Order: sequence, then C-alpha cells, then structure tokens
Amino acid sequence: MPFRRTIRGNLKKLEPLDIQMVAPSHGPVWDKPKAIIDAYTEWVDEDKIANKVVVPFVSMHGSTGKMAEYLVEALIERNIAVQQFNLTVADLGEMVVDLVDAATVILGSPTVLTGAHPEAVYCAALVNALRPKTKFVGIIGSLGWGSKMVDQLTGLMGNIKAEMFEPILVKGAAKEDGYTALDELADAILAKHQALGIAK
Ligand SMILES: Cc1cc2nc3c(=O)[nH]c(=O)nc-3n(C[C@H](O)[C@H](O)[C@H](O)COP(=O)(O)O)c2cc1C
Repeated sequence: MPFRRTIRGNLKKLEPLDIQMVAPSHGPVWDKPKAIIDAYTEWVDEDKIANKVVVPFVSMHGSTGKMAEYLVEALIERNIAVQQFNLTVADLGEMVVDLVDAATVILGSPTVLTGAHPEAVYCAALVNALRPKTKFVGIIGSLGWGSKMVDQLTGLMGNIKAEMFEPILVKGAAKEDGYTALDELADAILAKHQALGIAK
C-alpha cells in the first residue's frame, strides 16, 4: 500500500516484457506471473476502490461496541459491505487485507485518560503507516467527561489523505440522538460511495 506510486511506475516498465517467472527477494516465486501482476495492477490503482467500510473498534464497557454494531447494521441495510474488527481479539493481518481496497474506515474507541484506547492508537498508527487508498475516514466513540481522542487519532493518521466525516462522540452509552447521528453517518457514507460510482 505505501508504495503504490512506485509500483505503478514499475508495472509500466514490465508491460513490454514477456515474463516467464517472478522471483522476488521476499515471498514466493511465481511461475505463472499473470495472477500476481494482475493483482498488483488492481491493488495500486487509485480508482479500484470497493464499496466497503472497515470498522475497527475497541470498547471497555460496551458503549463504543454497541455504536460500532449499530453502524455496521446501518451500512449493511444500505448494501455497503462491512468488515468489523474488535481490536482486542482481531487478527490485524486480516484487517490490513481489507484496507487494500476499502473506500472508508470508521475507527471506534472509548476515551481513556483523555485520549483514545491504546488499541485504537495502535490501529490508527498502523493505518497511517500503510497509507491505504481509503477515501473517507471517521471516528466514533464514547467518553465520560472530556476527551481529546479525536484530535489525537486525527493527528496519528496524518498520512491519510482522506476526507473526514464529522466525528460522533457520545457520553456513556449512545441514546436516541447518538443512534440518529450513526444513521446520518451511514447515509453520508452511502452518498460519498455513490458519488464515487461504487454504490447504487
Ligand atoms: C481507565 C479509564 C480511563 C478513563 N478515562 C477517561 C477520560 O480521560 N475522559 C473521559 O471522558 N472518560 C474517561 N473514561 C470513561 C470512558 O471513556 C467511558 O466510560 C466510556 O463510556 C467507555 O466507553 P466503552 O463502553 O466503549 O468502553 C475512562 C474510563 C476508564 C475505564
């Protein structure tokens, strides 16, 4: 993901060659190279983006978890593919696979000692390092009395040149207005995906 531009340039150089085998310095040898070259061509294409939302979240007492689950249902109702990752148990390797083509990432975290939960901090730093072609990012979560989590997470994802949705932070467990805000977020995601031509 972070080397998309370089790879695009190198794929162009490979076009005139009749390649029999790819023997990279890392990873397996490809004796049928078309599959991997086609895959790379798709992975590095900025326009090959899926109608998909990745929702990594962490929750200590369940409030952020309920928000994440509500959002996931709302997105599914709008025919948007969703991959949800509970960061305390998730295989982050699987999340990274989904980041390759997901149009949107919504990160969920409670407030812990004024900032985001450490698992969410780690996730934001990982997303930032990988620089996926994600077009839209959002933050949802819960607080008790005061939070600098949005500024912290936004700062950690400075490499991501994505449009930011209005964050949704609720006190304790979400109430009616919190769920309304999550429905509005799902509508906004659908509208953005439709504008990209990836959602109906
Ligand atoms: C260890 C710990 C530290 C917390 N620190 C803060 C804090 O600095 N600011 C705040 O507003 N709430 C703080 N809270 C309260 C939680 O953010 C709040 O209970 C929230 O609703 C938890 O969300 P969750 O149910 O998704 O875990 C803290 C809670 C815990 C357990």
